[in-house]
Amino acid sequence: MRDDLGLSYAQRYFTRGIPRDALPAEPMPAQAAYQLVSDELALDGNPKQNLASFVTTWMEPEAQRLAADVLDKNLVDKDEYPRTETIHRRVMAMLGGLLNAHPDEEPVGTATVGSSEAIMLGLVAHRESWRKRGDGTGRPNIVCSGLVHTCWEKAARYFDLELRQVAPEPGRYVLDAERVKPLVDENTVAVGAILGNTFTGEADDVAGIDAMLRELPYDVPIHVDAASGGFVAPFLVPDLAWDFRLAQVRSINVSNHKFGLVYPGMGSVVFRDESVVDPSLVFDITYLGGSAPTYSLNFSQSSQGVVLQYYNFLRLGREGYGSIMAAIDSNAKALRARLSDMGVFDMIGEETFMPVIAVALKDPSDTDVFTLSARIREAGWIVPAYKLPPNATEVAVLRMVVRESFSRDMVDLLGDDVERALGRARGADVETPDNPHRPIC
Ligand SMILES: Cc1ncc(COP(=O)(O)O)c(C=O)c1O
Repeated sequence: MRDDLGLSYAQRYFTRGIPRDALPAEPMPAQAAYQLVSDELALDGNPKQNLASFVTTWMEPEAQRLAADVLDKNLVDKDEYPRTETIHRRVMAMLGGLLNAHPDEEPVGTATVGSSEAIMLGLVAHRESWRKRGDGTGRPNIVCSGLVHTCWEKAARYFDLELRQVAPEPGRYVLDAERVKPLVDENTVAVGAILGNTFTGEADDVAGIDAMLRELPYDVPIHVDAASGGFVAPFLVPDLAWDFRLAQVRSINVSNHKFGLVYPGMGSVVFRDESVVDPSLVFDITYLGGSAPTYSLNFSQSSQGVVLQYYNFLRLGREGYGSIMAAIDSNAKALRARLSDMGVFDMIGEETFMPVIAVALKDPSDTDVFTLSARIREAGWIVPAYKLPPNATEVAVLRMVVRESFSRDMVDLLGDDVERALGRARGADVETPDNPHRPIC
């Protein structure tokens, strides 16, 4: 019976089994298909209890309606859906403003599936500009922190860039000018700086790196990976200069589906101005009717992301985003304080504007974070445990991302469940996973 799904529904919908991994030979009623799929999905974790992810798990019903309205529109069909394309352009223009574009420059940007695609597009643009400038003749490299998201490693491998990483050390997780400088040379295509790293939530010293790069005899741009911080910093620390206010910052990626408060499937890359992207990288698509310049890795793409982002921009404005970020910040502080009061955790990394909390056990002889994570999971909470990358692998953390859908009540409930898990976890034996230093996000 393992190969059949259907008989679990007894005789109401199905009189014979539905194959599990093969295309069924016959159709079934829509209601039956819906029931099967929806019941299977109900066995996933609860997104509201998923503190592993930075990605949005709640939007207003009006946003859900809009998402359903545009399900049938492919974003790449710019000529067919000119209003959707106008919305895309407006969203990019609003983002440029949020990222403090210089008044004399006109930023250009494009919607992507997420920050991974956006980072790849940013780095390819910088590789092309470096090639055209002809400053160096060696193998092109990028310099960044060892705490970058996997997509940086992917980009390096896919686009044949040497990845020069500054390894974190226990207690030192922020990339700064002092540690970047020795790695930069005339073959450096770009320096990557993170605004809210995936592991501890801290922000690299973008302003310090910018000042150092401005002193060099050759031009080295900065790409800021603001996947998670790009929508937080402008509202919580507006005076922190990390964006287009800094001369060497030529491109920035944000995950609109993180603190842009949009459902998954939407990121953006924004360039300081169009001169950053060599025209050879922009493809003019004519076979959909009209002429449509595109800069993307994918071709077809859902329109939902840009439409939902536009909705949020109109609905919330700066003030609305500001108050949501303040509430998230307050809940993150409350959770941090609750964990700290338990007396068994060390807080990892500096407390920053990011609502990310990473903790290590003060005394790991008693239990370990992997066991704790498994015990907390029994109450439904998804709190990942992992080791930091080299040279900080001795630091094993639990990491929690506080999002809009995580209320103060949930802070208290999670706190109670962590305390319960601490009591129960002592002496338990849960295996460390094979590759434990990659957080899920
Ligand atoms: C700093 C950072 N960069 C890039 C990414 C990848 O983003 P996306 O999932 O939008 O592709 C993440 C994901 O969490 C991240 O935290």
